[in-house]
Amino acid sequence: RSAFIALSRNAALRTFSERSQLGRRMSSRFVAGMTLDEVVHAAEALQRLGIASTLDSLGENVTTPNEARHSADIYHRLLDAIQTRPTMNANVSVKLTQMGMDLDPGLAEEIVSGLVDHAVAANTFVRVDMEGSEYTKATIDMVRRLHAKPGNRGHVGIVIQAYLHRSQEDIRTLTGDGIRIRLCKGAYKEPSNLAFPEKKDVDANFVKLTHQLLTSGIYHGIATHDEDMISATRKFVRENNIDPKTFEFQMLYGIRRDLQKSLVHDGYNTRVYVPFGTEWYPYFMRRLAERPANALFIAKSLLKQ
Ligand code: FDA
Repeated sequence: RSAFIALSRNAALRTFSERSQLGRRMSSRFVAGMTLDEVVHAAEALQRLGIASTLDSLGENVTTPNEARHSADIYHRLLDAIQTRPTMNANVSVKLTQMGMDLDPGLAEEIVSGLVDHAVAANTFVRVDMEGSEYTKATIDMVRRLHAKPGNRGHVGIVIQAYLHRSQEDIRTLTGDGIRIRLCKGAYKEPSNLAFPEKKDVDANFVKLTHQLLTSGIYHGIATHDEDMISATRKFVRENNIDPKTFEFQMLYGIRRDLQKSLVHDGYNTRVYVPFGTEWYPYFMRRLAERPANALFIAKSLLKQ
């Protein structure tokens, strides 16, 4: 896992991979395409299976304000595409470092605020993804400010990572404001004073936090491919007479498609995170880090082509 996370930050390998045809073919397992048309097409195909989507234009840690503004333009075009397809159940996910957070947090907030205004007009929703722990507090503070603006309630939400020790407290604060949360395990490398190092502790916290979310009266997303986490959620919902329509399961594009379909079949709201764009490398490497066997699986499928 650590090796793939380290590789995800390797600039030379990133440039080489993103430009090569082979790299693009490899990434297509987890990335819906390079263009906006391709991602909309993927969302429409999911919708035909009864699956909603959250569209993500790949990119993170931009280094100039122009890059940040360019990233925002792509999101405005995505929101336009959603607005002109009122029957499509889609929203967007953004990363603050893609909106200039490392350069100027004020710029990032201005940009995301513009996206939330657009989402309000398009009657959809902006989810701010959670990145490494150096951004946790700033992300929470920004989302709370944006959510508190008149008209924005229910149109902007956040992600909480079950591997962080602080998450229970953060959920208390955010649900107190009425903010929608996506709960995931967490995909970055964190020190043990901030995050549980052992999978069993992350899993136990995930279950505990799921209970906290499902009893909050707010529509949240439970984002996992882990069958144990999904079974625990389903059991809790059953035993506590929670309406399955008051939350959704979320998964990543290309991962456990069988499970995605079976949740829909069983009547659960299901949403898939659909990333697209040329800057796929760090995202792709984090997916390999979660399941190194994927590297072998992808190599085999390329050899078969
Ligand atoms: P876990 O990693 O324990 O895996 C359980 C099982 O799921 C595996 O045994 C395997 O069967 C399957 N699986 C998991 N990952 C797989 C993969 N890559 N390929 C194939 N099978 C796989 N993280 C973050 O830090 N910030 C964020 O904003 C988000 N956003 C986000 C959105 C959505 C919709 C999802 C589903 C996930 C995220 N994540 C994230 C990523 C998340 O933190 C986590 O790294 C992955 O979801 C993997 O964790 P699981 O809960 O799936 O369990």
